[in-house]
Amino acid sequence: MKILIVENAEIATEKAAKILKDVVANSPNPVLGLATGGTMLNVYKHLVKQYEQGGFSFSNTSTFNLDEYIGLKEQDPSSYRSYMNKNLFDYIDIKITNTHLPNGTSTDLYEEAISYEKKINELNGMDVLLLGLGKNGHIGFNEPSSSLGSYTRIKRLSQDTCKANKKYFTGNNKMPTHAITMGIQTILDARHCVLVATGTEKSSAVRDMIEGAIASRCPASALQLHRNATVIIDKKAASTLSYIDDYLYIHPDGDDVLLSH
Ligand code: F6R
Repeated sequence: MKILIVENAEIATEKAAKILKDVVANSPNPVLGLATGGTMLNVYKHLVKQYEQGGFSFSNTSTFNLDEYIGLKEQDPSSYRSYMNKNLFDYIDIKITNTHLPNGTSTDLYEEAISYEKKINELNGMDVLLLGLGKNGHIGFNEPSSSLGSYTRIKRLSQDTCKANKKYFTGNNKMPTHAITMGIQTILDARHCVLVATGTEKSSAVRDMIEGAIASRCPASALQLHRNATVIIDKKAASTLSYIDDYLYIHPDGDDVLLSH
């Protein structure tokens, strides 16, 4: 695991955007895995800015999002499809038909999950997968107790997640109770995982992910098994790490100076 600790959230999200940009700029047919949530807003803001500065195109890029709420139509303003269009796809030259999210309104959600996995495999897997971190240690919507060997499937959202994401649902718009999400094994199959977490509220999940046991109580701890995982965190999120001095020694200022994983 490469642990890059940077001064603040702005630098962390810019760094993550740069990793995505480099993959898009340097691969003939890049395949990106994408996340949603508050932290990612800034990653996409930086990615759009880097795109506007020129020099690369998304025209050959395909994307797969980690998850989608069950029961929300694509055009629902709270769907992750709307989030992605609004915050990234509308501003870049990607072909919208190359952007994939699980269909949370499918009449056969089990089949939908299987065919989502198939689509990822047909494109030869994800070159890089962007991840956020839940306060409870979730990645995608793999909540605590998720199987570390899981593939895309339906999950009930935990009470913690419902509490954290309630703010995105206002008025009569009730928050769904279930989502369809890539599994932990789907995530581990990506060739590079890049997780971004910022702020003090993530510090205990960050500690469990990096320094805790590999256990389903903290699904993100499964990344310890990945051969090419990069964790980008700000100083606040890193504040409770026991070996913070070592991580900073290996990658001063979050610079990726060594090829260590
Ligand atoms: C959503 C997803 C989630 C979020 C996580 C952090 O697609 O993958 O795992 O990344 O809940 O969300 P924020 O950044 O809002 O704290």
